[in-house]
Order: sequence, then C-alpha cells, then structure tokens
Amino acid sequence: MQPINFSNIQSLILYAYKDLHHAAYLMLHIEHPDLFKQWLDDNIGNITTSNTRAKSVALNIAFTAPGLHKLNLSQHTYQQFSREFKEGIATNKRSQLLGDEGNNAPEGWNWGGPSTPDIDVLLLCYADSGAALEAQMSHITSELEAYTTQIQQLNTQALFDRKEHFGFKDGLAQPNIAGVHSKAEESNSLAPGELLLGQESGYGTTTPFPHGENNFSDFGKDGSYLVFRQLEQDVKRFWQYLDQQNTEEDNKIYLAAKMVGRWPNGAPLSLFPTKEPDHLNPAIANNFDYSDDPQGNHCPMASHIRRTNPRATDLGLSDKKDNIASVNHHRIMRRGRPYGKPLHKYLSPTAMMKADDTEPRGLHFLCFNADLARQFEFIQQTWVNNEKFNGLYNDLDPLLGSRPKERGPSGDDFTIPQKPMRHKLKSIPQFVTTKGGAYFFMPSISALKQLINSNE
Ligand code: HEM
Repeated sequence: MQPINFSNIQSLILYAYKDLHHAAYLMLHIEHPDLFKQWLDDNIGNITTSNTRAKSVALNIAFTAPGLHKLNLSQHTYQQFSREFKEGIATNKRSQLLGDEGNNAPEGWNWGGPSTPDIDVLLLCYADSGAALEAQMSHITSELEAYTTQIQQLNTQALFDRKEHFGFKDGLAQPNIAGVHSKAEESNSLAPGELLLGQESGYGTTTPFPHGENNFSDFGKDGSYLVFRQLEQDVKRFWQYLDQQNTEEDNKIYLAAKMVGRWPNGAPLSLFPTKEPDHLNPAIANNFDYSDDPQGNHCPMASHIRRTNPRATDLGLSDKKDNIASVNHHRIMRRGRPYGKPLHKYLSPTAMMKADDTEPRGLHFLCFNADLARQFEFIQQTWVNNEKFNGLYNDLDPLLGSRPKERGPSGDDFTIPQKPMRHKLKSIPQFVTTKGGAYFFMPSISALKQLINSNE
C-alpha cells in the first residue's frame, strides 16, 4: 500500500475536528473566476491539511461539478469525474432512488434544488469558540464579497453531550482507515481507497481518479466526494408518536432506542439489550457485530444503525468474514453537525414531547466516500429506503423513512422482534425531511494548485 501523503489531504476527510465545537458552511456562486482563483492562491496556506492538528480554527473547501467547470478544469479531466457527481444530487432518477420525493423533493429545497441558484463552492469553517468562528467568517465573506454571491450561510449548533436533536449520542461509529487511524480492529478497517481517490481500494485496485492528459497530472488523487444534505428533524412529532403508543416513560425511551439501535447515551442495544447503563465505556461502544443476534432480538434489523451498517449480519453470504467484507464496500465517513436550537437544553424526552416551538432544527448531514453510487447512494437506496431490507416487509428506516411513500408499500411499520411475540409499531409518520442537498468534491492541495493555474 502506498504511504498516505497527509500534507496533501484536506483534514476534514480524515478527522472530525471534535474539539472545534463551532462550525458554519458557506455556499457560494463564483461571479469572477480569475479573481476567485487569486483569492484561493492567497489563502491556500489557510486550508487545513491532515498533517497538523487544527487547534483553534480550521478551513476546508470543496466544489460542485459546475464549480470545477467554471474554474477551467480541462474538459478531459472533468469528464473522468463520476457520473453521479457530474449530474448532481437532484436529478429525477436520483431523487427517486434517494427518497427525495413528495415532501423531500428538490423543488421544495432551500438550496441545491432546481429553482435555487447554482452552487459552485462550499467553504467549511470550524473554530473553538463562537467569537473565533465569527471572526473567521466575516474575514472570508468580506474578502470574497466582490467576486462571489453568497447563496447560503448554514450555521451549526453543538448540542448537549454530543447528541443529535432526537436526543441520541452521535458520531460514535466510524470506519478506521488503514494507515491513518491507529485502533483498527480488522472488521472495521477500510482500505484508504474507500475514502480517497487514487489509493488502494477494498477490492485491491486503485480507486479511479480524474487525471490530466498523458497522465501528467493527478488531479483527483487524494480527494474525496462529499455528500451534503440538510435533514430537518421534527423532534416533537418523534416523541409525541412514541408517547401515543401508550407506554410508560421508560418504555418510550426503550422504543426510541430500538429505532436507533443505541440508547440515548450511545450504549448499543447489542450489548445492553434491556437497560441503558449509567455510563458508556467508549472502549466498548463499537464492540459488537450482530453475529450473536441473527433475529434482531437485541438490535432490530430495521433499526437505523443496523441497516446503515449491518456489520456481520447474515446477508446471505457463506460466512461471517464474507458478510463483513461485503458490507464494508458500503461504508461512509460521517462529518455531520446539528443545526437549530434544541427543543430542550438537555434533550429530555418528556420535556421535548411537551415543548411548544416550531423553529427549524435538524442535521447538516455530511459524509465522505470514494464512490457515491457504491457507498452513500447504496446505503440510502438499498438499506435505508427499502421496506424489504433483509427479510423485512414494510419497514423503512424508522428515523429517515419518507412516509407516506410515493409508490409501493407504505413502509410505515417498525418491527421489534422479541419473545414470545414480536411487537410492531404501525403508521409511523415522517420525522425527517430533506431541505437541501448537493454533491461536492474536496480536492487535494496539489489539485487546488492545479486549479489556480488552469487557464484553458
Ligand atoms: C436526521 C438524520 C439522522 C439522524 C438523526 C441520525 C442519527 C444517528 C445516530 C443517533 C446514530 C448512532 C450514533 C453513531 O453510531 O454514531 C447514527 C449512526 C449512523 N448513521 Fe445516522 N442519522 C441520520 C441520518 C443518516 C443518514 C442520511 C445516513 C446515511 C445515508 C446515516 C448513516 C449512519 C451510519 C452509517 C451510522 C453508523 C452505523 C454504525 O456503523 O453502527 N445517518 N445515526
């Protein structure tokens, strides 16, 4: 395996900036490409790379396909980008497979849809304090004002105990990248080419990357595709629905945990099937693979975490190792952050059920992968948005499913296998709505330099 060139790779691809609690995203339309390139040239030293640890601020940059085109990337190189990236997230076909229909349809999006302005560039800004973030943002926006139009500034909001808005600890399970992250248990270890173009993939081949004529330039190498989706969460509806199941307080949390696959504090149901432990030892948070729970009696097959990463679940292959290897071709590196005020400061379910507040809140879902179709889109289409996932019949992802579905079965059941009789939740409403989306490419530092100098 070739060594990783950390100083060439933008840091967000490999690291989550967990200590930088404040973040905001700027989406821009480039009006004057040459002046924008000049800005990039002046600021390339401020882009955070993965050879150093970001201390108080971090900055990363990514482009849509129209953005790369506008900056004169040669047609030859541009054409080698994947079809999904070049077409973008909001085509009719893609909307159908991602479940972006009805309430989720791009026609209703705040950004990235057919009736909103074209996005060329995404700047991702991180800081260790609100003041530092504000200073960074106002510096960047005042510099770029003359040659770009700002389409969106999307702010984020760190919540109590690193939770997401429904009240569950997030960001616990991520793949380890061989040669990058040290604590690689074999089953959770991915070849670097599953995340970075031009590196060795899980198939033992080099992940294809767009390059220049005569193979002189390696434009796409060490870059990664970035999925960005604004997912609005109806927190009150989530907890009210569980309340209406007429169960005791503890049972509501139990049902919600069954939907997620983890307790609010992150403890996996696989290891703690009946009760949330007082403390979760981080060392064991991912120490499970479902192989001792083939029926889903502990962690339901339909739960969010089991269907977005089935680990060693028997998916019809001959042995455990094959199942894991097959699942590992569909992993993603998540980098999302919540936005909007929490419905309750400590995300208490009882308080959130009663709270009266209609302010928008949700998750800015971001993830990296080397192959949009095989990784992000596969998860969304074949696992999340599929009511027949691994032997189920009418169960979409209980958190993410879009209900009622535009076509086919309603998908609004949630099956909880348990002895002596399974329990079924029925008529689950929609809790998460897509409000925006785009596919970006986050290039390496050497590719940024090539863009700065491209003048076809
Ligand atoms: C508002 C939307 C979402 C919410 C509230 C949400 C919430 C969560 C929570 C609470 C966890 C468990 C914590 C952890 O393991 O890190 C989790 C894990 C995960 N989610 Fe989501 N999620 C959302 C959207 C998505 C989407 C759109 C995808 C991909 C299509 C996704 C993929 C995953 C994956 C891959 C894991 C880790 C599973 C594992 O390896 O065990 N999530 N999510």
